Amino acid sequence: AMASGGQRVVLITGCSSGIGLRLAVLLAQDAKKRYYVVATMRDLRKKGRLEEEAGDTLNKTLTIRALDVCSDESVTQCLDGIQDRRVDVLINNAGIGQIGPIESLGMPEMQKVFETNFFGAVRMIKAVLPDMKRRKSGHIVVMSSVMGLQGIVFNDIYSASKFAMEGFCESLAVQLLKFNINVSLIEPGPVNTEFEMKLMEEVGKSEFPGADADTVHYFKNVYLPASHEIFVTLGQSPDTVAKATARVIEMSRPVFRCQTNALYTPLVAMKYADESGNLSVRTFYNLLFNYGTLFHLSMSALRCLTCSCFRRRSVYPS
Ligand SMILES: NC(=O)c1ccc[n+]([C@@H]2O[C@H](COP(=O)([O-])OP(=O)(O)OC[C@H]3O[C@@H](n4cnc5c(N)ncnc54)[C@H](OP(=O)(O)O)[C@@H]3O)[C@@H](O)[C@H]2O)c1
Ligand SMILES: *[C@@H]1O[C@H](CO)[C@@H](O)[C@H](O)[C@H]1NC(C)=O
Ligand SMILES: *[C@@H]1O[C@H](CO)[C@@H](O)[C@H](O)[C@H]1NC(C)=O
Ligand SMILES: *[C@@H]1O[C@H](CO)[C@@H](O)[C@H](O)[C@H]1NC(C)=O
Repeated sequence: AMASGGQRVVLITGCSSGIGLRLAVLLAQDAKKRYYVVATMRDLRKKGRLEEEAGDTLNKTLTIRALDVCSDESVTQCLDGIQDRRVDVLINNAGIGQIGPIESLGMPEMQKVFETNFFGAVRMIKAVLPDMKRRKSGHIVVMSSVMGLQGIVFNDIYSASKFAMEGFCESLAVQLLKFNINVSLIEPGPVNTEFEMKLMEEVGKSEFPGADADTVHYFKNVYLPASHEIFVTLGQSPDTVAKATARVIEMSRPVFRCQTNALYTPLVAMKYADESGNLSVRTFYNLLFNYGTLFHLSMSALRCLTCSCFRRRSVYPS
């Protein structure tokens, strides 16, 4: 199978689960068959779920290939396997999370977050650029996060890796526009995928060596319950984020930034509302440490509302 004339070749990283899997299937099922999806994953043993969800699009508008964003060899091999190395839309979705007090995290673990979330995407972009520039056409999409715009407590390294990606794209987008190549950042809030579960598993295994008892207490008994509540209350489905991403790649003049969860826009806007940064830091501090009960109550109220219509108020309704 290969792309037929007029089809846009869309390469997506990290399609074994979550947003990547949903997006691959959504694009492959496009009624007008506008896309030929190269759905990639680092471990092909995990392809079962994608094969199942792709249904009869498999080997027609969707092909599954191996790609580890942390390996030069794997990236080269995958691109060489694509006809004319033509990728019209690159979607950098592969990513890993990390939470916890930084004193308890090893340097190699932290570096792995950057190796995947930042350098993994950089490696992909670097690999597709020469061909995109030659053709004077292309769209590079990065699955960032609201944590790439506003750091969130105990997500220090993850936030930093997404901030790095934001800065990289802001810088690159200007140069690439000269070559008719567009760059877009998708910035979801919490999304109900395996992501949170994987983090909780990691946390469950750790004894937090090196972190003091107070910090471990705040992390386990204040942050973790609050975080879980936020996922339950404000979390979007991977399908909603996939649809928002599909809209961005359909735009004739693609937006540079797209926040998928309207509830987060005020939190992000707050940091620009006060140049000193005090407002942001204090507000997040108070939310977490001083207003525990209030936080809980407002989340419960939100949860009530979200049952009916609140979820539909996201920027891109599902
Ligand atoms: N879930 C959220 O709350 C949330 C919010 C904002 C942004 N995001 C971002 O959305 C993206 C997708 O996350 P998700 O929520 O869909 O989580 P997910 O279900 O855990 O999916 C992450 C995907 O990335 C893959 N991956 C990890 N390391 C890789 C590597 N070296 N090479 C290739 N693939 C690799 C994983 O593959 P394996 O199965 O092999 O591990 C998996 O397919 C990430 O960039 C994440 O930062 C997520
Ligand atoms: C799709 O292609 C792969 C690799 O060529 C092959 O192993 C698989 O059996 C095909 N699946 C279907 C449903 O055609
Ligand atoms: C990218 O942006 C330019 C300028 O805004 C636009 O003319 C072009 O059609 C866009 N290309 C793609 C592939 O979306
Ligand atoms: C920010 O906080 C510092 C320390 O409390 C204070 O000295 C400063 O005046 C504050 N700035 C603004 C603009 O509120």
